[in-house]
Amino acid sequence: MLIIDDIDRAIVDVEANEIVSNDGVVHLRKLLNSLVSRFSQSLDSLDGDEKREIGIRINKLKKCVELKINKFYAQSSRTEGEIVDSDLTLPCLDHISCRHPLKIQCNKMVDCFTSLGFIQVETNEIEDDWHNFTALNIPEYHPARDEQDTFFIDGGGLLRTHTSNVQIRILEQCKIPIRCFSIGRVFRNETISARSHCFFYQLECFCVDRNVNISDLKSTLLYVIHYLFGRNIKMRIRPSYFPFTMPGIEVDMSCIPCGGVGCQLCKYSGWVEICGGGMIDPNVLNNVGIDNKLYSGFAIGMGIERLSFLINKVSDIRLYDINVTEFLRQFCM
Ligand code: DAH
Repeated sequence: MLIIDDIDRAIVDVEANEIVSNDGVVHLRKLLNSLVSRFSQSLDSLDGDEKREIGIRINKLKKCVELKINKFYAQSSRTEGEIVDSDLTLPCLDHISCRHPLKIQCNKMVDCFTSLGFIQVETNEIEDDWHNFTALNIPEYHPARDEQDTFFIDGGGLLRTHTSNVQIRILEQCKIPIRCFSIGRVFRNETISARSHCFFYQLECFCVDRNVNISDLKSTLLYVIHYLFGRNIKMRIRPSYFPFTMPGIEVDMSCIPCGGVGCQLCKYSGWVEICGGGMIDPNVLNNVGIDNKLYSGFAIGMGIERLSFLINKVSDIRLYDINVTEFLRQFCM
């Protein structure tokens, strides 16, 4: 839990340092208030044990803060509220615990997939044709390549167009059974607009073992949707096409703002698309030397910005990387 980490870190900081000025007192009180208000904001989404645990830690932090403040007043001739010198060495309060919205989203995804037993892995951003396309059933001159134009590097190599390259890299290197996920940057040669960018983040999750079937895929997807959006969200699966899946699917969830009745966000359909997936095409397994009669697998691909769009109601992808502090500050809690 991120808030627990932050409180623990704050306790360690407070215990390790002495207050040397009235500014230090103000700083500590603000730190305490910001953590308490974050805790109160997330109350609804926490279960009883988590609430209790955070409550215990907040009390511990409160006690530490009060002890330090009392010690400071006992040792100095200052009184509370007295305006004296400014302590310019203090950290800037506005920036305490500020994470980028995409980092917040990535952290949630890590919590979600690790809680299901998937292991996080990382592989190349600079790829070769085999790992990004050919091994994934997208040979040269396949029309699917047109949708994923990218940046080519002089002397060979390209910037990966999707995180599906992780499937090939891991399947080539690791022993089955494999259950893993990866979050990373991908690149496309696209005109930058509110809806598309030349780089963005994706999550890839996949599993290969004996007897993996589509109900494993479905239950994983349902778990992820419930984890991220709540237990009353419904899921819908539609057939789709990806060269590396057979069958391929597209996954929708019931629209949150309108509860599935229909609104502008879901274009009055009641559903919003959240990711793609499918059973890994037996040809892909064959390409990496895996016996596709013995083993099968599923794969899921999600756009991180898209998830953040849905959760935070952001409507312009460019906002994520132009460092507009007014935008980023909204995610500071
Ligand atoms: N790689 C696809 C893309 O970038 C997303 C995707 C779809 C990944 C289906 C998957 C999958 O693993 O099964 O558009």
